[in-house]
Amino acid sequence: MKNFEVKTKICFGEHALDRLIELHYRKALVIADPYVVSSGMIRQVTDRLEQAKIPFTVFSDVVPDPPMDKVIAGVSEALREKPECIIAIGGGSAIDLSKAVRKFATQIESGFNPWLIAIPTTSGTGSEVTSFSVISDPEKGVKYPLSEESMIPDEAILDEELVKSVPASITADTGMDVLTHAIEAYVSVNNNEFSAALAEKSVEICGQFLLRSYSDNNDTHARRKMHLASCLAGLAFNSASLGLNHGMAHQLGANFHMPHGRANAILLPHIIEYNAEIDMRSKSRQSYAPCVRKYCNMARILGLSNLNEVTTIRALVSYVEFMSKEMNIPLSVSACGGISEGEYMEKIEFMADMALADACTATNPRVPTKAEVMELYRKIW
Ligand SMILES: NC(=O)c1ccc[n+]([C@@H]2O[C@H](COP(=O)([O-])OP(=O)(O)OC[C@H]3O[C@@H](n4cnc5c(N)ncnc54)[C@H](O)[C@@H]3O)[C@@H](O)[C@H]2O)c1
Ligand SMILES: [Fe+2]
Repeated sequence: MKNFEVKTKICFGEHALDRLIELHYRKALVIADPYVVSSGMIRQVTDRLEQAKIPFTVFSDVVPDPPMDKVIAGVSEALREKPECIIAIGGGSAIDLSKAVRKFATQIESGFNPWLIAIPTTSGTGSEVTSFSVISDPEKGVKYPLSEESMIPDEAILDEELVKSVPASITADTGMDVLTHAIEAYVSVNNNEFSAALAEKSVEICGQFLLRSYSDNNDTHARRKMHLASCLAGLAFNSASLGLNHGMAHQLGANFHMPHGRANAILLPHIIEYNAEIDMRSKSRQSYAPCVRKYCNMARILGLSNLNEVTTIRALVSYVEFMSKEMNIPLSVSACGGISEGEYMEKIEFMADMALADACTATNPRVPTKAEVMELYRKIW
């Protein structure tokens, strides 16, 4: 039996943040990305909490790829303050941290079960609607995608005004994360009609609006669309999960601090080729792996449908590379700079082991061997 459920109430469109004025809680804990605090953006939340007469405290000890010690600090704050509501505002890192804080704090103290409202300020992870929280262990060089129903936020507020300050390079990285979520969820072995519909819409929006939002921060329409695409892709992969692309990208983030979306963007053309078993030298054949039809559907939605399966997959791979080039995302690990070849090659075997153990890899349409994953890591150097 399968089931499909959207647990999160999603407020979006103009004045979405005014949802905060409607809240009735005795106390709130705002967990915010440091940029949200330093830029003053946080006042968009705190002014509304004041209007709603809800006392609050702010915790902003958030770093990209949150490690366990920051989760522990957040748990201590939550148990000290005992808020009835946690409001997470920031990118995937702030939201993932908040989800983990609620999970561990409620496990430690029975009866404590705050409401969780997620307000994303990047259009990328979809974390505001997913059961995933990616926590890092920088010493071991590992990123753990925790997944548990209870971590799904109760509410998400999507306000594109919050995304307009995102620098172009982060718009690029996070936008490619959205595209990867939608494509991976679509070809996942857990893909179903509901997740497929969400992924298709998300990819359609990326095709129309990602470059527009990259080239003009203040293009409100494009920003709104990409904010929704991010959430749609989050709903898709919350149901269908992801694949090897994310399994491998997590290791690049954990070992080399590569931004999550950038790691996905570098891997995506190679993973499509690997899963489809189609590369530059392929000729057309009688039958293809089942994921080929799905990749071809995605290509059709992007307007890339071509002569046959081989040319269509080639067009999709070229499209992904084109998007990265247009947005100045490096096409290889070496082009990112700052990582020595020796150091990278030395880590490949460890990263391959960890990628195979990563929960996302389990739903990849092709079951990878360790040698194949190592080869893919070499290819992207
Ligand atoms: N939970 C999930 O389902 C899920 C899915 C994919 C990725 N992730 C995780 O999410 C994290 C990545 O999240 P992300 O890509 O949103 O980046 P992020 O949250 O790490 O933020 C990246 C940078 O952008 C800045 N920033 C955020 N909002 C901004 C704004 N409006 N204006 C200017 N700067 C802003 C932050 O301060 C930070 O420096 C990774 O740890 C990744 O593994 C989680
Ligand atoms: Fe992702």
